[in-house]
Amino acid sequence: MSQPVAPILSVNHLRVGFRKRGVETTAVHDVSLTVDRGEIVGLVGESGSGKSLTCRAALRLMPRGGRVTAGSVHVDGRDVLDMSNGELRALRAHTIGMIFQDPFTSLNPTLRIGRQLVETLRVNAGIADHAAHDRAVELLGQVEIPDPAARLRVYPHELSGGMRQRVMLALAIAANPRLLIADEPTTALDVSTQAQVLALIKRLREESGMSVLLVSHDFGVISAMCDRVVVMYGGFVVESGTIAQVYSAPRHPYTRALLDAVPDLTIPQPGYRRPTIQGPPLGTVAYQGGCPFEPRCRFARPECRHVDMSLPGRDDAHLSACPFVDASHVADIAAAVPTGGRQ
Ligand SMILES: Nc1ncnc2c1ncn2[C@@H]1O[C@H](COP(=O)(O)OP(=O)(O)OP(=O)(O)O)[C@@H](O)[C@H]1O
Ligand code: SF4
Ligand SMILES: [Mg+2]
Repeated sequence: MSQPVAPILSVNHLRVGFRKRGVETTAVHDVSLTVDRGEIVGLVGESGSGKSLTCRAALRLMPRGGRVTAGSVHVDGRDVLDMSNGELRALRAHTIGMIFQDPFTSLNPTLRIGRQLVETLRVNAGIADHAAHDRAVELLGQVEIPDPAARLRVYPHELSGGMRQRVMLALAIAANPRLLIADEPTTALDVSTQAQVLALIKRLREESGMSVLLVSHDFGVISAMCDRVVVMYGGFVVESGTIAQVYSAPRHPYTRALLDAVPDLTIPQPGYRRPTIQGPPLGTVAYQGGCPFEPRCRFARPECRHVDMSLPGRDDAHLSACPFVDASHVADIAAAVPTGGRQ
C-alpha cells in the first residue's frame, strides 16, 4: 500500500512569543494548519491576528525579539525548527518562495531589477550568470511584465506598485518553489491591478502545481482564490474548512462578522452602511484565557472564558473553536441583527 504524502506545510499548535526588555508576551497562542500539494489555502483575519508571524514561522524568519515557544512546523515532512542553518538556507532558497507584506523589505532600492533577479537565480537556483540573464527575462515575461528585457535595467522606484508586486512574484518563483507564501500580496494595489496579480498567482499555480498559502484580511479575495480557508483571531485559529463550507455556513461568530463586513455591491446606495465588527478591536484588551472573541461576541456567556481553543490542523472536517454556537444559530441571529458584537 502506498504511503500517504505529507502535506507541503504542516503547522501544529504553534505558539510565538516576544521578549522585550525582559518582558515575555505571547503574540500567536495556538495555530494549526496544513497546506496540501497543489492547494491554495487562505489565511484570513483582522490586523494583529497573527497571520504574518505564522507565515514567518514556516521559514523560521522571526522579527527581532520573536521566537517560536511551542509547537512544530514541518515543510515537506521535515521539521523546520530543528534544521541547521545550511538546511534553512536551502529551504528558503529552493522549497518556499515568499512575498512579504511590504514590497520594500524584499526589493533592494539601490539595485536594478535585473541584478536582483540574476543574483537570486544564481544563488537560489544555481544558474550561471549568462543563463540567469535569459531566465530573468523569461521570468518577467511569465509575470506579465511588458518589455521584460528593458525592465531589467530599471530600479524598483521606477516601477508602479503593480509592477513591483509582479517583480516580487518573479523573485519568489525564481527557483520553482513547491510552496508560495504570499502575505497580503495585493493590499496596496488598486482593484483592477489587484485582480490581475491574483489571476497571475492562480495561473502560475495551475501551470507549476505549486501550493500557495495566501494571506489576506479580505474574505472576498480569499473566496475567489482558495480551496480552503483558515480564519484567525487573536493568535488562534477559530474556524477552518473548504471555501464552500465556511462561506455558506460559517460556524464561528467571528467568521460570520467577517463575512458581513464584505461589501455587498448589490445593495443600492444611499442608505446602505457596510457592517463593521463592534466591540474593542484586537490588541486593546489583554488576553485572559478562553475564547479571545468573547469581548466582542453577541453570544458570549461565562463559560466562554474557559473554552479550549486548540483546533487540530486538519481532518477534512469543517472545524470551529466555538462550542456554543452552530451554523444555524449564527445565520439566524446574524439575519436578525446585521452586525457582529454585543448591542
Ligand atoms: N516585532 C514585533 N514585536 C512585538 N510584537 C509583535 C511584533 N510583530 C508582531 N507582534 C505582535 O504579534 C501580533 C500579530 O502580528 P502579525 O504581524 O502576525 O499580525 P497580522 O495578522 O499579520 O496583522 P496585519 O493584518 O496587520 O498584517 C501583533 O498584534 C503584535 O502584538
Ligand atoms: S459564544 Fe463564546 S466561545 Fe463562541 S465565539 Fe462567542 S465568546 Fe467565543
Ligand atoms: Mg501581516
